[in-house]
Amino acid sequence: MEILEVEQKIDWNNLTFSITPTRSMYFATCDLGGEWEPGDLIPYGDFKISPAAGVLNYGQGVFEGTKAFKTLKGRDILFRPDRNAKRFIKSAERLCIPPVPEEMFLKAVEITVRDNADYIPPVGKGSLYVRPIIWGTGPVLGVKPAPSYTFVVYVSPVGPYFKGGMRALHLKVTRYFHRAAPKGTGNAKAIGNYAASLYPLKLAKEREFDEVIYLNAANENLVEEVGSANIFILKDNVLKTPKLGGSILPGVTRDSVIQLAREILGLEVLETDVTVNDVLFADEVFCTGTAAVITPIGKITTDDDFQVIGNGEIGSLTRKLYDTLTGIQRERIEDTFGWVHPVPMYK
Ligand SMILES: Cc1ncc(COP(=O)(O)O)c(C=O)c1O
Repeated sequence: MEILEVEQKIDWNNLTFSITPTRSMYFATCDLGGEWEPGDLIPYGDFKISPAAGVLNYGQGVFEGTKAFKTLKGRDILFRPDRNAKRFIKSAERLCIPPVPEEMFLKAVEITVRDNADYIPPVGKGSLYVRPIIWGTGPVLGVKPAPSYTFVVYVSPVGPYFKGGMRALHLKVTRYFHRAAPKGTGNAKAIGNYAASLYPLKLAKEREFDEVIYLNAANENLVEEVGSANIFILKDNVLKTPKLGGSILPGVTRDSVIQLAREILGLEVLETDVTVNDVLFADEVFCTGTAAVITPIGKITTDDDFQVIGNGEIGSLTRKLYDTLTGIQRERIEDTFGWVHPVPMYK
């Protein structure tokens, strides 16, 4: 009965990357210096918050993003949620937020997905985006950690992150804005990082670019990442991605692509410095992320010039990596890495 209701409400063929309210969300709380109490599922919806909440005044919040899929074997699976659990802990520590233990994170994600499993799109139609998030919700006036915290996991069925589905993007290299500074919060999934990226993205979109390529704040010859995705280039059969430092988010998809390229495709992969010229004159360029999956980049514009990458379409390695990654996520290809995490039946 419930499944029918959902099918009537959601147009699986036209999903976009936007929020669709679902049945329930996980909700837990913790005091500063205390332990997280086990939380529970509550109906998805609004809740009350103090105007003096740490998150509303000083941006004390961190989040994660992972996805659940229906697979060709008829299972509901998550992709490497343990990596998100670990990154969530690191992000929380950076913002003085009590970290959610890995086991609690996984259980929270699993029970939220299980309870909303009828919102996971059919194979080939999209995925269920999972958003674990912690906010400092207790009231605070001086700049200091909030006295209490709220951990929520909510989900939404989603389609492609970039409008128009799988197509080669046109990106703008910005020299006017930095996403993150060395020793800042760029390697944490801090909510404020994303607020600061809205204006550069707005300017880029007004000029018909799809996204922004950010440079290293200490050395503007070096490329860091795309707004919400990591970047890779292929040149002469060597795959390169900017090495992790203080200001690059260690993407789960980035790590997966490195392993797939090395172990399945036998490619040389370097985590190294990548210059603007390396990117402009690469054979293939693509970006990776839970939301972006693997998205080809067909054209890049700088302040002085523009460059078409390859023939401006998806490159053959990009296509191979995309097919392999999504093949594992849909259980069309055997998972030899142990990345597929079936969602247990809690009911
Ligand atoms: C700034 C930034 N870089 C990279 C990524 C890609 O990370 P992941 O592959 O874990 O989604 C994301 C998205 O989560 C992001 O927000």
